[in-house]
Amino acid sequence: MEISLLTLLYIIASVTFIIGLKMLSHPDSARKGNLIAAGGMTLAIFGTIFLYRDEAGNKLHNYAWIFGGIVIGCIIGTLSAKKVKMTAMPEMVSLFNGMGGACAALISLVEFNHLQHTLENSRIELLMMDAAGPVQATLLVIMAGLIIGSVSFAGSVIAWGKLNGKIKDFSFNGQHIFNIVLLLVIVGLAAYIIGWLPENASLIFYAAFVLSLLYGVFFVLPIGGADMPVVISLLNSFTGVAAACGGFLYGNKVMLTGGILVGAAGTLLTILMCKAMNRSLANVLIGSFGGGAKGIAGDTNKEAGHHKEINIMDTAVVMAYANKVIIVPGYGLAVAQAQHACHELEKLLNERGVEVKYAIHPVAGRMPGHMNVLLAEADVSYEKLEEMEQANEEFPTTDVVLILGANDVVNPAAKTDPSSPIYGMPILDVELAKTIIVNKRSMKPGYAGIENDLFYRPKTSMLFGDAKKVLQDLIAEIKSI
Ligand code: TAP
Repeated sequence: MEISLLTLLYIIASVTFIIGLKMLSHPDSARKGNLIAAGGMTLAIFGTIFLYRDEAGNKLHNYAWIFGGIVIGCIIGTLSAKKVKMTAMPEMVSLFNGMGGACAALISLVEFNHLQHTLENSRIELLMMDAAGPVQATLLVIMAGLIIGSVSFAGSVIAWGKLNGKIKDFSFNGQHIFNIVLLLVIVGLAAYIIGWLPENASLIFYAAFVLSLLYGVFFVLPIGGADMPVVISLLNSFTGVAAACGGFLYGNKVMLTGGILVGAAGTLLTILMCKAMNRSLANVLIGSFGGGAKGIAGDTNKEAGHHKEINIMDTAVVMAYANKVIIVPGYGLAVAQAQHACHELEKLLNERGVEVKYAIHPVAGRMPGHMNVLLAEADVSYEKLEEMEQANEEFPTTDVVLILGANDVVNPAAKTDPSSPIYGMPILDVELAKTIIVNKRSMKPGYAGIENDLFYRPKTSMLFGDAKKVLQDLIAEIKSI
């Protein structure tokens, strides 16, 4: 069997995707993995542009359009990636994922127009000769790409708007029933086109397209802000499946492989995130978590209202004379961009003979691996990062836990208050340590919108201020001891 150069390039590209994905699973190798997969994608793109031939032997010719698009896309992509803040990363991922969904939907729109010609000319003959099978199979893939891609595009744009605060949560009575009916109508329209090859197929096709966009909007609108990362991951898997449909349509194996990998990885990530929060996907999709819900614990705490404050000088003494310190980073650390100051504090304490580690909760921050990436940026050694289970075993032998801009992931209500929206979520058991110092700017709740009883417990002291400023002051103070 003769293998063409293009097939070989596609195989190499597919392999790089798999190697890249594997390498992404460790912070040490993630950057390189990303580059390897991107290299494979570049090979696949340029291989297709220059080596692809259709059945009649024609090659691609509209180079001005193709390279015009590539240049514009590269400029936008590079500038956005360079400019984006670490805390705005989920927003950007969402928007770019939406673009993938839009591309898949556009492929379906274009291919439907090609197929429509066949439908218009030979619909009756096809049906009478019982030869409609291949057309119907193609239509099935086109419809799947259209629906999934449109939902992913519209949903991702809404998720992007919610994350940057431009779009507020919105729901109405019976919205979940409305959504189910809408979805059934869309599937019904698709089944009608595929099964009956009707004369007015294009009208129904565009109706399915518009309704799919609408479904994407109504699917994401009621979901609570704190759950957007899970929704984005789910939509990401949709985009993968929609892209795989494009691969089917064009018989393009690398597109198929890439789409399937994205679809599978997105699904696994969604499941892992739900597990880390101890919630089902259904609960995420209809639970409206983080949309301002308040737990019972919140009200009780407000009544209690007694928290202890600690100043920089006392914190410096407590930390400088400790044997073992565990730092718990959270979303606030990313907001303050305090990762470098944090690493400096760690080194300073190490020089004084203090053992320092970091406890990483799986959903600390706003996206999977957020804290790992942030600390890696500041050259914190991976050996010092402890996963939740490991850290929970170490807290009882820890002198000081320093919580930097984390809140929900250390909230005991997750274990003690069945009425709390985060009840059941595994948390970092920081209370097992001798002393807990919490740095944040105020007593305001975290993303889940609930009060945190930890702040009022006897072993806890609050160290108010922006994480970066507080760490810089702390470093200066410890140096002067
Ligand atoms: P949060 O519970 O959101 O708490 C972050 C805290 O940081 C806030 O209470 C805030 O308090 C403080 N903060 C903000 N800016 C600060 C600054 N400049 N300096 C110091 N502190 C600052 O964060 P978390 O503990 O990391 O928990 C993550 C949340 O996101 C969880 O609810 C989790 O379920 C949700 N979530 C995460 C993911 C992933 S994969 N990471 C996915 C889905 C959902 P002040 O305003 O008082 O400063």
